[in-house]
Amino acid sequence: MELNVFVLLLAVSYYVVARVVDCRTLPGDVGWPSREDWMNLNASVHGRLFSIVPLATVCHGANFDPEQCKALRENWSSYLTHAETAGSVIPPYYQNQTCNPFTTRSSRCEMGNHVSYAIRAGSAKDIASGIKFARDRNVRLVIRNTGHDFLGKSIGRGGLAIWTRDLNKAEFIPSYRSALYEGPAMKLGAGIRAFEAVEAAHSNKVRLITGYCSTVGIVGGFLQGGGSGPLSSVYGLAADQVLEYEVVTASGEVVTASPFEHKELYWALSGGGGGTFGIVVSATVRVFEDGRMGGAKLRFSRNNVESDTVYDLLGSLLDLSPMLAEAGLQFAFQITPAAFEITPISAPGLSSDALSKLLEPFVSRLDQEGIDYSYQVSTLPDYKSFYEIYLGPTPEGPYRANVQVGSRFVPRTSLETHRTKIIEATRNITENTPVYIVFHVANVTQTSVKKPVSDNAVLPQWRQTIIHAMAVLAWDFEIAQTEMLSKQAELTESVIPQLRAALPPDSGTYLNEAEVGISTWKEDFFGDNYEKLRQVKYKYDPEDLFYASTAVGSDAWWVASDGRLCRANPSNVLRFREL
Ligand SMILES: Cc1cc2nc3c(=O)[nH]c(=O)nc-3n(C[C@H](O)[C@H](O)[C@H](O)COP(=O)(O)OP(=O)(O)OC[C@H]3O[C@@H](n4cnc5c(N)ncnc54)[C@H](O)[C@@H]3O)c2cc1C
Ligand SMILES: *[C@@H]1O[C@H](CO)[C@@H](O)[C@H](O)[C@H]1NC(C)=O
Ligand SMILES: *[C@@H]1O[C@H](CO)[C@@H](O)[C@H](O)[C@H]1NC(C)=O
Ligand SMILES: *[C@@H]1O[C@H](CO)[C@@H](O)[C@H](O)[C@H]1NC(C)=O
Ligand SMILES: *[C@@H]1O[C@H](CO)[C@@H](O)[C@H](O)[C@H]1NC(C)=O
Ligand SMILES: *[C@@H]1O[C@H](CO)[C@@H](O)[C@H](O)[C@H]1NC(C)=O
Repeated sequence: MELNVFVLLLAVSYYVVARVVDCRTLPGDVGWPSREDWMNLNASVHGRLFSIVPLATVCHGANFDPEQCKALRENWSSYLTHAETAGSVIPPYYQNQTCNPFTTRSSRCEMGNHVSYAIRAGSAKDIASGIKFARDRNVRLVIRNTGHDFLGKSIGRGGLAIWTRDLNKAEFIPSYRSALYEGPAMKLGAGIRAFEAVEAAHSNKVRLITGYCSTVGIVGGFLQGGGSGPLSSVYGLAADQVLEYEVVTASGEVVTASPFEHKELYWALSGGGGGTFGIVVSATVRVFEDGRMGGAKLRFSRNNVESDTVYDLLGSLLDLSPMLAEAGLQFAFQITPAAFEITPISAPGLSSDALSKLLEPFVSRLDQEGIDYSYQVSTLPDYKSFYEIYLGPTPEGPYRANVQVGSRFVPRTSLETHRTKIIEATRNITENTPVYIVFHVANVTQTSVKKPVSDNAVLPQWRQTIIHAMAVLAWDFEIAQTEMLSKQAELTESVIPQLRAALPPDSGTYLNEAEVGISTWKEDFFGDNYEKLRQVKYKYDPEDLFYASTAVGSDAWWVASDGRLCRANPSNVLRFREL
């Protein structure tokens, strides 16, 4: 009898313990922190704790407000709409219609993939308090900057987000000195966004690596995942510029990671992807003397142009790309069902005359074909002027928050070995699927004049890459969700495989612009660096506290059907069995 009770108790406690240890808690669980616990956390972060309410709450049930809902619906595809909340789910696939301004008033409004709470961190101390709370209370921890990540790395059901929004100071350092670099630098807070960094650099007469989208952060996922932008063919990737990081590790300790201290952490953070090695508070980066920028864009409508001609012209532009990138140009072009567009073209240091000369072989082909095109070439005095004209007006910029993407790097050598295949795949995708391809041309090969500060974890294949091919699927929020999901499936299951088949198998994929559901993320995102990255992760985060989908070490977890994060590795359960 006593023995039976004992066995029963043991079984029950085993169940409870295993469950608690195995999965993160969700609201409603017995183990979910109490109101008082959250209040205590709030006190320890000086009132900077917020509970998250989905934006589209104003569109449903008793909270319905026709004016506010209409405004939200109209502006849903603006990144700025989502910028003031740490919880908003931006990637359309992850929105999952759980609380959406496009569904009817009576449709559900649930938390879905939203985090439950966020700390609007004001200091490394606030970050450490959040880390400690999440660990002690078994709450899923999410590192959130702008929330732009396409793979849902900065969201998470039932999570506590550490939001870096307010860490947005930029400090100019006229002459930074280390054994590896002497020259101008900027210390950038983790929350600073591209348009803010461009402005801060401008006011100090320098420029720095940013991406194309003005509302993407600099120090978060962008820089930590590599980070490429209009200046990269001349100076390299954003990750190549980092001199040092200020990081809060999983233990809550604040460390400096540089080529001299915590070297492996520095290496991993520079290209190994955001969200998993630690929470970066600031990064000090190399900046460059500002000056002249050549800029251009070109567009023609496909209305009166034969498809054969369009894809012939694609071939011409592909052929010219290595030479243009070697001259310091970086540019993006795309063929959609409506048009052929190259925008923007950036040419650091070049006059409009010099830039026109470089583009002349392509432009004269258009003339030969009798194509009616619009073409603008200009010389701008500095990077900020270039940014405003070609990627502004800031802060909004031209990019809309209604896409899911997919990615594949195109090695330079494949332009010769796989030329026909690349063109045919692009043609088939553009003409027969809802997806189109954006080609981002850049040369980030390390040379004597274009050297990273130190060795880093950028995917080695990127250095051999001439084009980052990005597949883009525009999300229509107003059509049936099932229809959108089938287009999304087509992106992952048909389009990307076609792109892969047209390229050498080990070309690699950009971890920041990849497709949902990618199963080969380890080799595609990290290649030969994966094992070392996993070791660094283990050293600095032995309990895998930091989780982000497809981040290094993320296979220590899996997401259950209710969105709950659970340990994939049964070692904890085994430990209790052994007891
Ligand atoms: C419209 C658009 C245009 C883009 N253009 C470019 C481009 O030109 N070039 C380019 O290279 N990329 C581009 N990207 C991709 C972009 O780099 C990624 O979406 C990137 O993840 C965004 O980083 P974030 O910090 O702003 O966003 P978030 O979604 O908040 O964070 C992204 C990831 O970084 C982690 N993270 C954020 N902050 C920190 C921190 N302080 N410490 C540790 N981890 C952190 C998060 O946990 C998450 O895993 C673009 C994306 C969009 C949506
Ligand atoms: C945290 O404290 C601040 C200031 O007292 C308050 O405004 C805020 O609502 C609190 N957060 C939560 C989640 O209760
Ligand atoms: C949408 O956003 C823009 C820019 O932020 C703003 O000017 C406009 O008023 C918004 N529209 C609505 C309907 O709220
Ligand atoms: C969307 O919700 C369904 C259940 O309603 C769930 O099975 C699915 O995993 C969710 N998808 C995402 C991307 O969250
Ligand atoms: C062209 O695209 C369609 C639609 O995705 C696909 O079914 C077909 O297999 C593709 N053709 C080739 C040759 O890849
Ligand atoms: C980049 O340019 C350098 C010359 O500056 C060249 O050696 C290298 O092959 C180029 N890389 C690519 C990928 O085109």
